[in-house]
Amino acid sequence: MTRRGLFVAFEGIDASGKSTQARRVAKDRGALFAFEPGDTPLGVELRRWVLDATAPMDPGTEALLMLADRSHHARRVLEPALASGRNVVCDRYYPSSLAYQGYGRGVNLEHLRAATALAIGACRPDLIVLLDVSIDVANERRARDHEDRFESADADFHERVRAGYLALAQNDTTPWVVVNGDDDFERVNARVDECVAELPWPA
Ligand code: TYD
Repeated sequence: MTRRGLFVAFEGIDASGKSTQARRVAKDRGALFAFEPGDTPLGVELRRWVLDATAPMDPGTEALLMLADRSHHARRVLEPALASGRNVVCDRYYPSSLAYQGYGRGVNLEHLRAATALAIGACRPDLIVLLDVSIDVANERRARDHEDRFESADADFHERVRAGYLALAQNDTTPWVVVNGDDDFERVNARVDECVAELPWPA
């Protein structure tokens, strides 16, 4: 029987450095690099709608579009790759919806958890790496041109999302590690590598 691949997800607020880390780890481990939202042809369309800062949208609608993207992605990309034995590193997964739409926008968390179960089924990560950065550091790093719906949200929103992530990291059935993303690049790399190396990678 084919051994199931390992699945690592990276999370964090905008400009936390999670995408850089996710890409780096995927490359080092020869894993499939995946991301949300927008990693499938349907996802590209959903991403365009959901990030468009000029088209006002209800938070519940926003959540359902993110979850539609995830459901499609999990079933069409992530799950088949894992089942075939491929390791997968995903830039954002279900915690993003709980943190952004739940803690950030105030969508009912229990409803979001139920919808998440519908979207991902049994496709759960083996590890979630949270790059935790302060809002000040994220603001310094963030490119200010062409801000999307989330990047243009106020500082309080980003504070709620950050606090939401930290709360989720304490109370989830999936294992999480929290890495201090305010540290310098070399130290963040080393800490992420240390955490990821604990997983049972195939020889
Ligand atoms: P992402 O592609 O990670 O950002 P970037 O374009 O900077 O690489 O994510 C785009 C935005 O979507 C980001 O602000 C977070 C938001 N988002 C949610 O609000 N909920 C979700 O479930 C996901 C996956 C993303």
